[in-house]
Amino acid sequence: MGASEPSEMLSDRGPGAVPQPDLAVRRLLIAGLMGAAVALTLGIYANAHNPSSDLTITLGFTNTITMKVWLATVALCFAVVQLLSALWMYGRLPLGAAPSWLGSVHRISGRLAFLVSLPVAYHCLYQLGFQHSSTRVLLHSILGCLFYGAFAAKVLVVRSRNLPGSALPLAGGLVFVLLVYIWLTSVLWYVNHSGFPSP
Ligand code: HEM
Repeated sequence: MGASEPSEMLSDRGPGAVPQPDLAVRRLLIAGLMGAAVALTLGIYANAHNPSSDLTITLGFTNTITMKVWLATVALCFAVVQLLSALWMYGRLPLGAAPSWLGSVHRISGRLAFLVSLPVAYHCLYQLGFQHSSTRVLLHSILGCLFYGAFAAKVLVVRSRNLPGSALPLAGGLVFVLLVYIWLTSVLWYVNHSGFPSP
């Protein structure tokens, strides 16, 4: 069934429910604008703020970089759990019907991925800022800001009713892909040069 067909515009199909494509477009637009505003705000702040070495946090790790490498990797692991649980719930894995607890696994892993990413992003934003010393660093800075924008948009999509069925998997997929590229442009690069740090 095509994503634009009216019957797919309804996520709350009660008796007498009427498709409202205009409302769906408006809600998608609001989610997109909100996401863009979050990403832009972070980018402007990261660019305007002078990188500062005070208020360092290590959360018990040997140093800040070690904390960032570990937490970014843990966030990616939670994101992989999110992706696999979503694929299972959408019937895209050859595992039969999804168990009833999978929705909770999906929600909790998503929240944990977000929470674990925060100390890392704090260090990036406050102590490093937006940098463009190389294509990789520029890409990482842009993707970092886009990630939180896409996350905000996804939260709005999750909370909105009456959206096309494809909206949520697209928003979730975007958040996942952004985190993967953030990890590739930071952790993978670091580990290639210095090895995986012990905590
Ligand atoms: C919010 C916007 C973000 C900005 C502006 C930003 C910026 C930066 C910059 C400029 C670097 C230094 C790169 C280098 O010289 O090699 C860096 C490193 C790094 N970033 Fe980000 N980043 C952001 C978000 C994130 C997020 C969301 C994660 C992971 C969840 C992350 C993980 C890392 C890691 C692991 C490093 C390598 C350790 C380090 O050099 O301190 N960043 N970031």
